[in-house]
Amino acid sequence: MEFTINSPIDMHLHLREGAMLECVTPLTAQHFSAAIIMPNLVPPVDNLERLLQYRKEIEAAQGDDVFDPLMMLFFRQYSEAELKAAREHIFGIKLYPAGATTNSEAGVKALDEVESTFALMEQMGIPLMIHGETHGFVMDREKEFLPVYAKLAEKFPKLKITMEHITTRDAVELLDRYENLYATVTLHHLVITLNDVAGGLLNPHLFCKPIAKRPEDREALLQAALAAHPKLMFGSDSAPHPISKKECCGCAAGLFTAPVCLPTLVELFEQHDVLDNLQAFVSGNAQRIHNFTAPSKLVKLEKIGLQMPARYGDVVPYRAGESLPWAVTQIS
Ligand code: NCD
Ligand code: ZN
Repeated sequence: MEFTINSPIDMHLHLREGAMLECVTPLTAQHFSAAIIMPNLVPPVDNLERLLQYRKEIEAAQGDDVFDPLMMLFFRQYSEAELKAAREHIFGIKLYPAGATTNSEAGVKALDEVESTFALMEQMGIPLMIHGETHGFVMDREKEFLPVYAKLAEKFPKLKITMEHITTRDAVELLDRYENLYATVTLHHLVITLNDVAGGLLNPHLFCKPIAKRPEDREALLQAALAAHPKLMFGSDSAPHPISKKECCGCAAGLFTAPVCLPTLVELFEQHDVLDNLQAFVSGNAQRIHNFTAPSKLVKLEKIGLQMPARYGDVVPYRAGESLPWAVTQIS
């Protein structure tokens, strides 16, 4: 049995820098035709010079694969001149509330103080991507942030706002209430709940922000993805950390999923007998919503089995050591 995806796109990806970037970039560049590259480096990618330099580093690591890194600026107050200069080089701007997740210390402390930048982005048609969590109780952080999305969507009706990596049923429901509100969802939030992270022996490799939630949340996300909800896009949030930062006291948040995304998505959609919806979820929706064309790339998967390694370099992947039914067998 085989299945071919045309130009898969990862709408939320962390590549890091240096040796880690060299290790993980080819794994995405092989399977995907484009990916949105998150700017939460240290220091953040918050100026054009750093962004162009970062893009060069990615291009050097991706080798000959057909792959378009879609660059993001880290949100701060930007002047009109800065945004004008950056416009043609960026896909959007990613906003992190200060301290919400890995490397977000330079994020926003008070949203109502940065509205002039939202207004400029709206005028210039620059999409806003948001890590939507408060600093409240860990299971409620996304739910508590939803009124902020609603307020922004209302106040800036022409601003395209993406709720990044949604994890709750409430977020799925919010999608249909505001025309200019969209969402990405990860692979792992379609599969795991908090039980997989902490219900038995603690599994640090499944610890991420936002934390995996309840079975009913996972179910709502899965149903929306399987139906290729027109405002939902696949974004892996593949976020590699070295093993020493995961298997330790003070474990870093993030799952490294890049190499298993497509095999596992095909497995999931096949199990639910909706393989035909996968193309829209992993490519079509993103291109329609953001009005762009990803480079042409046909990725063929076959049900021939795939033995996952325990590690890639210094990183443990999601589903390490498992044998998966589907494997990518041809890319053209
Ligand atoms: C991400 C990372 O490690 O950069 N971590 C995560 O748990 N998802 C940051 C993020 O997207 O929150
Ligand atoms: Zn992320």
